[in-house]
Amino acid sequence: MSAPIDNTFIRDLEMKNGEQIKIHQLEVGDVGCVVWDAALVMCRYIETGDFDGGNSWRGLDVVEVGAGTGVLGVYAAAYGANVTVTDLPEFLPLMNLNIDTNRHHITGTAVAESLKWGEESLGRTVDCVLMADCIYYDKSLGPLVETVCSLCSDKTTVFCCYEQRTTGNKPELERKFLELMLEKFDVEDIPLERQDSLFRSEDILIKRFWKKTFTEVG
Ligand SMILES: C[S@@+](CC[C@H](N)C(=O)[O-])C[C@H]1O[C@@H](n2cnc3c(N)ncnc32)[C@H](O)[C@@H]1O
Repeated sequence: MSAPIDNTFIRDLEMKNGEQIKIHQLEVGDVGCVVWDAALVMCRYIETGDFDGGNSWRGLDVVEVGAGTGVLGVYAAAYGANVTVTDLPEFLPLMNLNIDTNRHHITGTAVAESLKWGEESLGRTVDCVLMADCIYYDKSLGPLVETVCSLCSDKTTVFCCYEQRTTGNKPELERKFLELMLEKFDVEDIPLERQDSLFRSEDILIKRFWKKTFTEVG
């Protein structure tokens, strides 16, 4: 059971099958204490035709990085994935609360763990890495990419969903993140027409990455 948390307000999210996921958000806290739009867009992408309506998540080993409330990981676990939702250690109580609250929807498994980018490791590679709205400060970009790489084998798929922001240094952060990722990964942009017909937006991007395979020359 999770430790008690005061002062939460609930975000309801209806799955395509009509089940209601309830996500606690904190009234006061750092950026991860609420559900961001990119997470909602990615949640609903999980249940599109690209994943056989959600069926192809069953049994996959999935890690969500920068999970905040854990909404995206909980959603994947509701579709049968075995998910580890991760964030800074201070988010463990919130992620655990949301796992506990939605236990009856989870048909795979869900656990919460601390995973500080560039500092901690889960010590294994997984089938799929999920991240929503994790590109937002300069110092974190190298460590974030390092952590994502540490979770990836040649068979891993990474889904990165983020809101494309145009103010301040945000375009530069996006450029730097993509430059770092493209040193190690190939990428596909998921077009809007393959996303959920309601939960999608021109300024929220979903990118799929997979490790580049290098062929030795000579
Ligand atoms: C904008 S929030 C997005 C939260 C959630 N993915 C969503 O979309 O609703 C970014 C998340 O990244 C996490 N984060 C930031 N720096 C981190 C680090 N160095 N290691 C692990 N997580 C970090 C924050 O705690 C926060 O939960």
